[in-house]
Amino acid sequence: MKKVILTGDRPTGKLHLGHYVGSLKNRVKLQNSNEYDMYVFIADLQALTDNARNPEKIRNSLMEVALDYLAVGLDPEKTTFFVQSQIPELTELTMHYMNLVTLARLKRNPTIKTEIKERGFGEAVPVGFLTYPISQAADITAFKANLIPVGEDQLPLIEQCKEIVHAFNNLYGNILVEPQAVLADNKVCIRLPGIDGKAKMSKSLGNCIYLSDDTETVKKKVMSMYTDPNHIKVEDPGKVENNTVFTYLEAFATDEDFKKYLPEYKNLEELKAHYKRGGLGDVKVKKFLFQILEDLLEPMRKKRAYYQEHLDLVYKMLEDGSKKARLVAQNTLKEVRDAIGINYFNKN
Ligand code: TRP
Repeated sequence: MKKVILTGDRPTGKLHLGHYVGSLKNRVKLQNSNEYDMYVFIADLQALTDNARNPEKIRNSLMEVALDYLAVGLDPEKTTFFVQSQIPELTELTMHYMNLVTLARLKRNPTIKTEIKERGFGEAVPVGFLTYPISQAADITAFKANLIPVGEDQLPLIEQCKEIVHAFNNLYGNILVEPQAVLADNKVCIRLPGIDGKAKMSKSLGNCIYLSDDTETVKKKVMSMYTDPNHIKVEDPGKVENNTVFTYLEAFATDEDFKKYLPEYKNLEELKAHYKRGGLGDVKVKKFLFQILEDLLEPMRKKRAYYQEHLDLVYKMLEDGSKKARLVAQNTLKEVRDAIGINYFNKN
């Protein structure tokens, strides 16, 4: 049997370059290896846990995220796409797992802790929000997923899922499968900084380049990127550490890009050396980065535009995928009910 890969995103806005290098790129690679049974889903229920009063935002973002998935090359022929809210079995699984997790453990979850702080919830945190790690464990275990390609902020959630798997299996027998997170292999890609140089690209910080940004927007954003504030004149020696443009080049530039756009340098090491020596201006480096990003984003824009013209296809893909995924979740739920011993009336 093929190993199962499952992952998803909360639909709270469009996806950006941080999502791309942190996880989407990896997903496309795994998908195209044809070695896995792959599920990618839109976690609308999870997004609602802190947006209950704003369901329109989630509803609209659902399509944005689906379009982003298709734009980066996730392919409904190879990957099953689904929508979390269309699989009610996930909710019942959540209910069973809730009995295996303590309040203290949830409050200690580093991801939840940070998110509660960011949102200023304190004790007024919605119970659904505090408990979403349990629902996330249901998402993962319903499909007996082995590998979860995610950004590093998700590691504590995968950890919590593993604990639930162990607790359940110890109590009721070996039904659930322990998942493993898959991170990007390049350190820079695991946490891409924002264009302002802040630690993380994030919608709330307003420092993102979105996968759906048009050429002019990308150009403006790249030209405004944070570099070395002491590198004022071209002749000045510059620093490449904490210089966002160089960090992005580490994430995106290949030796092929040098051949194509800056043949006077063989690779990033040579470009860095020149910058450090002095005599290399920011504008030249930024233009190079802009070209590389355009090569990446332009084909995505084309695919996105196609599906935007054919939204019916996208809805159909989500609907069909949800139906297919639901059958799998139903099967696991049945095993779980049997294991707990609450299948009173259908003995088989
Ligand atoms: N927590 C993820 C996010 O913030 C979304 C998500 C929900 C997820 N369930 C999941 C990711 C299961 C991987 C596996 O976007």
